[in-house]
Amino acid sequence: MKTLGISTGGGDCPGLNAVIRAVAKTAILRHGWRVLGIRDSFDGLVFPEKACELRMDDVTGLLARGGTILGTTNRNNPLRYPLEKDGKLTVCDLSARCIENARRLGLDALVVVGGDGTAAISLDLCRKGLPIVVVPKTIDNDLAGTEMSVGFDTALHTASEAIDKIHTSAESHHRVMIVELMGRTAGWIALEAGLASGADVILIPEIPFKLANVCKTILEREKSGKNFTIVAMAEGIALPPDLPAHAQNAGVSRPLGEIMREAITRNTGKETRLTVLGHIQRGGPPSPFDRLLATRLGVAAVELASSGQFGRMVCLHQGRIGSVPLEDAVCGARLVDPKGEMVSAARAMGTCFGD
Ligand code: F6P
Repeated sequence: MKTLGISTGGGDCPGLNAVIRAVAKTAILRHGWRVLGIRDSFDGLVFPEKACELRMDDVTGLLARGGTILGTTNRNNPLRYPLEKDGKLTVCDLSARCIENARRLGLDALVVVGGDGTAAISLDLCRKGLPIVVVPKTIDNDLAGTEMSVGFDTALHTASEAIDKIHTSAESHHRVMIVELMGRTAGWIALEAGLASGADVILIPEIPFKLANVCKTILEREKSGKNFTIVAMAEGIALPPDLPAHAQNAGVSRPLGEIMREAITRNTGKETRLTVLGHIQRGGPPSPFDRLLATRLGVAAVELASSGQFGRMVCLHQGRIGSVPLEDAVCGARLVDPKGEMVSAARAMGTCFGD
């Protein structure tokens, strides 16, 4: 009987448990394999005593459950692992230890569910001999090599619903409301949630903007009788070049959204509020789309492993499940195309990008 390991790495997101369920069920029911849950990402290979067998009973009821039953971390790269030695913190390459522990656990294959950081570590470990298949997940949807990653659709629902709710309050109070959304260097959540919820201004890292243009839009809306404005702002934006020096608060680090809130108030005279949506975007049950994607990708990952195709990531391409070499997943973030159809559709709706 072969043994398949499964682990989840990087930031959590909705749909991880659905992948674990799909991988375990396919391995057990279709292939008759033993499945081992590797806990807390690659930490579970550094400390293999944490591993646990996953039987059918362990993965039942997981489809709709948020988070990950295996735990995760977005720290502790095993190739640069922080360890205390003689009272001093040193960085060690524990890849040989991970590979040896995988051998001791009897792993014939390892399915790793992760984003770009996890994919990069997987590629390194794969080159050193660990048989890995990656399943893409990230609410940021910035993983190259796949059109969608598990977790993004649910985050989009959460962000859109939040903007809808903020809309009614903005309208009632005649305010400017900034909603800061996650995404790191990519603007996918802000762009798509902004467009889905009719945000008037969308600010994303891929489109540099000026404060003056944002304020002009707010004041023009005011003139036309629309005395509120919704700004969907990605966390990864660079501050606009025309931001007054004092607004940056002379070297004192302040949250980006707060700097923007104050600058908009000063420049428009409009009462402005900031909502930072934060980790709520990573929580809750996965959407039906994410459950389907997680299931399809999980099944495909086991099929790749069963045919000995390692060093690959399963992916979604033009609506179909396929796979790409891991190198394609780690070749840089998948960013919003400022000239792409989605941005163009938003512009057609009159959305201001501040450029
Ligand atoms: O990559 C997912 C993500 O939620 C990003 O959108 C965000 O910048 C980051 O993780 C937050 O990480 P942490 O949970 O470590 O604060």
